[in-house]
Amino acid sequence: MGSDFLISGLRSVELEVPDLARSAAFYMDVWGLVEAERADGHIYLRCEGEDAYAVRLNEASVPAILSYTLRAADGTDLAALRARAIAAGGVADGDIAPMLEAGGGTGFSLRDTVGRKLRVVQGDTRLDPFNSGQSRPDRLSHININTTDLERDIAFYELGFGFRVTDRSKMMGFVRTNSDHHTVVLAKAPVDTLNHIAFNHPTWEDVMKASGRMVDADYPMGWGPGRHGPGDNVFAYFVDPAGFVVEHTAEVLQVDDTYRVGGPEDWVWPAGRTDHWGVAPPKSGACKAAQLAIGFK
Ligand SMILES: [Fe+2]
Repeated sequence: MGSDFLISGLRSVELEVPDLARSAAFYMDVWGLVEAERADGHIYLRCEGEDAYAVRLNEASVPAILSYTLRAADGTDLAALRARAIAAGGVADGDIAPMLEAGGGTGFSLRDTVGRKLRVVQGDTRLDPFNSGQSRPDRLSHININTTDLERDIAFYELGFGFRVTDRSKMMGFVRTNSDHHTVVLAKAPVDTLNHIAFNHPTWEDVMKASGRMVDADYPMGWGPGRHGPGDNVFAYFVDPAGFVVEHTAEVLQVDDTYRVGGPEDWVWPAGRTDHWGVAPPKSGACKAAQLAIGFK
């Protein structure tokens, strides 16, 4: 299932933070990542799965997302993929070249129609997965990106990278590139910024335990816990020390091409509800503000 996609998934995000030591300590001691490598001012943090890293941090005055990195399927022709992405509106940012960072591989970088940088890597290192028993994430789950033009950005992923639409709600488009219901979510907004980054766990019990670790460290839950509509995943949202919104999630719906693509009429909640469970308080103002605030550099 999903083996015919050009992109196999979301490998990593590359972030700039104003206090590198503080953010690195947060992601390792509280969020649950593990240091993979330090080099050239960058700290690479991995999950428990096979990816060489999930989060790359470096220090800069303003928090920002530099890029996010998709992994091309083993059989994908990178040059053809790059040409396809450029034909769909992407702007070249260098040629296909070795990726000189943790995980290596070969890849390319480009900017989307509004200048957000994304990278594609192929043949990067896979590590041995492990299980610490401490409810650490096993991989990235998805990236949610704010968009001033939902149709434009859905088309960019479909035409440029071979993603398929799984669901549409009034405010969001969910696109997939493997059996996960969504790997990229596009959210209508007044700005083209980062909405949030989601980390996958094997079970929702792990989401709860990892969330408890956050609460113990005085990071209040910004939204959740709950179970989303589109994708059916369990969620808990937080704001990290640099202002990034991060989500612990699990149990995202597994789909294939038999999935009936939903529309806004399929995802209308009863009054007062924003998820299947209905136990979470309304999203905090701090979380809402942070979901708009992080720009792409
Ligand atoms: Fe999410």
